[in-house]
Amino acid sequence: MFTLNSTDPLPLYRQLYDQIRGRILSGRLPAGSRLPSVRELAAELSASRNTVEGAYQELAAEGYIYGKPRSGYIVSDLDHSAAPVSLSHKPRRPERFPAPPPHYAYDFHPARLDPASFPVALWRRCFTDSLRESSRDLSHYGDSQGEWRLRHSIQRYLERSRGVICDPGQIVICAGLQQSLDIVAHLLKGSHAAVAVENPGYHLPRAVFRNHGLEIVPVPVGTHGLDLDTLAASSGTIAYVTPSHQLPLGCVMPIANRLKLLEWAEKGGRLIIEDDYDSELRYHGTPIPSLQGLRPHGAIVYAGTFSKILSPALRVSYLVLPPPLLAPYHRLFRDYFGTVSLLEQRTLAKFMEEGHWERHVRRMRTVCKKKHDALLRAVERHFGPRAVVAGQGAGLHMVLQLPGTARGEAEIIEAARRKGIRLLPFSDFFVRGTPDATTVLLGFGGMVPDEIEEGIALLSPLCF
Ligand SMILES: Cc1ncc(COP(=O)(O)O)c(C=O)c1O
Repeated sequence: MFTLNSTDPLPLYRQLYDQIRGRILSGRLPAGSRLPSVRELAAELSASRNTVEGAYQELAAEGYIYGKPRSGYIVSDLDHSAAPVSLSHKPRRPERFPAPPPHYAYDFHPARLDPASFPVALWRRCFTDSLRESSRDLSHYGDSQGEWRLRHSIQRYLERSRGVICDPGQIVICAGLQQSLDIVAHLLKGSHAAVAVENPGYHLPRAVFRNHGLEIVPVPVGTHGLDLDTLAASSGTIAYVTPSHQLPLGCVMPIANRLKLLEWAEKGGRLIIEDDYDSELRYHGTPIPSLQGLRPHGAIVYAGTFSKILSPALRVSYLVLPPPLLAPYHRLFRDYFGTVSLLEQRTLAKFMEEGHWERHVRRMRTVCKKKHDALLRAVERHFGPRAVVAGQGAGLHMVLQLPGTARGEAEIIEAARRKGIRLLPFSDFFVRGTPDATTVLLGFGGMVPDEIEEGIALLSPLCF
C-alpha cells in the first residue's frame, strides 16, 4: 500500500514516486513486476490520475520502470549493486525547516532594531521604482565597487554629517562590517603583522583579522577610549577603533586623544580603522566629527554601516579607503564581483537621493532617544544606587556595572533567560581578562519604551 499525505509540502506525485522507487531499490518490487494501472492506483489512493501518471512518467524517464503495450508499467531489471547507497536506503523524509530561534519577550541584544522602525512603505516604493528603472541592468553584473549613485549619496551624506572628506571613488560598498574588514585585511596583511584592538571591544572583527593570520593585540580602554600609551608600546601597527562611541563601554574619544592617535598613525606606516557604526545616534551635545575628517589624506580606513539605523538584515556597509590603498584595492579585487544586490543598492541610493534617509535618521534619533531615556529611568527606578551606568547618551546600548552583587554574569544571564529576557554576555567583548565588577550590557534598540520598563523591572531582582 502506498500512502499520500496532502499536508506534506512534497508534491503528491513526488511522494508516490519516492515510495515506488524505494520499493524497487529494496527489492520489494522485483524486476518484471507489473505496477497497477494508472486508473486503479488513482482510485485506490483517492488521488487524481495526473498524480499517478506523473510518478510513473518520472520513474520511466529514470529507467526504474518501462511501459509495455497492453500490459501497463513493468519494473526494470536493475543492477542493484550499482545503485547509489543513498538510493537503496529508505526514501529520505522531506526536509524539515530548522526551528526558529527562541523568542524573547525582552530582547536586550545591542544589535536589535524594533521591527516597526523599518520604513516599509517608502522602501517598497523605492524598490519598485528601482526595479522598473533597472530591469535592463538585471541581465549583467553591476559595478564591483558598488553602484556609483549609492557611493555618491554616501559621500555627500558623510561629508555633511560626519565631516568625512572623500571622493565616491574611495568608497567600496560591502555586505556588512566583516566583509569590509575582510577587504581591508587582504590589503594590509602583506605589510602588517598585528592589529591592536580595544579590550573590551567589538568581538566580531577579531575572527576576520585572525583568519588573515594577523595577530590580535588587546589594548585596554579607559574613560577616554583606547589607552594610547599602551598602544604606542604595543606591536600593533593597525588600530581598529570605535572612537565616536566605544563598543561596549560607550566612551567618546576626546579631541586631544584623537589627535594623539592620528600622530601615532603618522609614524612609520601605521594605519587606523575607524568603525563609525552608530554615530548618527547622539542624544546630547553636538556630534563628534570623524577621525577621517581630521586627516582626510591620513592613513585612516573609515567603515560605516546601514545596520544600526535602517536594518541589519539588508547587509549593506561601506568603506572609505585612503588614497594610497586605492591602487592595491583595484589590483587585488579587479576580478571580484560585487557582493550587494544591485536592486538593494539602487533602492538605497533612491532612498537617499529623495531625502528619505536623512528624515529616517532624524526620526530614529527621536525614537531611540525615547528608548534610551526610558532605559535610564527604568534603571534608576529598579536598580537605584546598586548600578553604575556607563555609555549613556548615544547609540543603542549602555552598560550596568553592579559592584555590590555576588552573582556572576553567567548566573544572571541564565536566570534572565528563564524569564524571557535576552542578555548578550559582556565578557564576550574581552580578548583577555574580565571586568572588575559583574557587568550587564543592555541594548535597547529592539524594544519599545514600555517593554524596556517591564524588562528592567523583571531583570533587577535577578541580578542580586
Ligand atoms: C561596533 C560595530 N560595528 C559595526 C557593526 C555593524 O556590523 P554590520 O555592518 O556587519 O551589520 C556593529 C553591529 O552591531 C557593531 O557593533
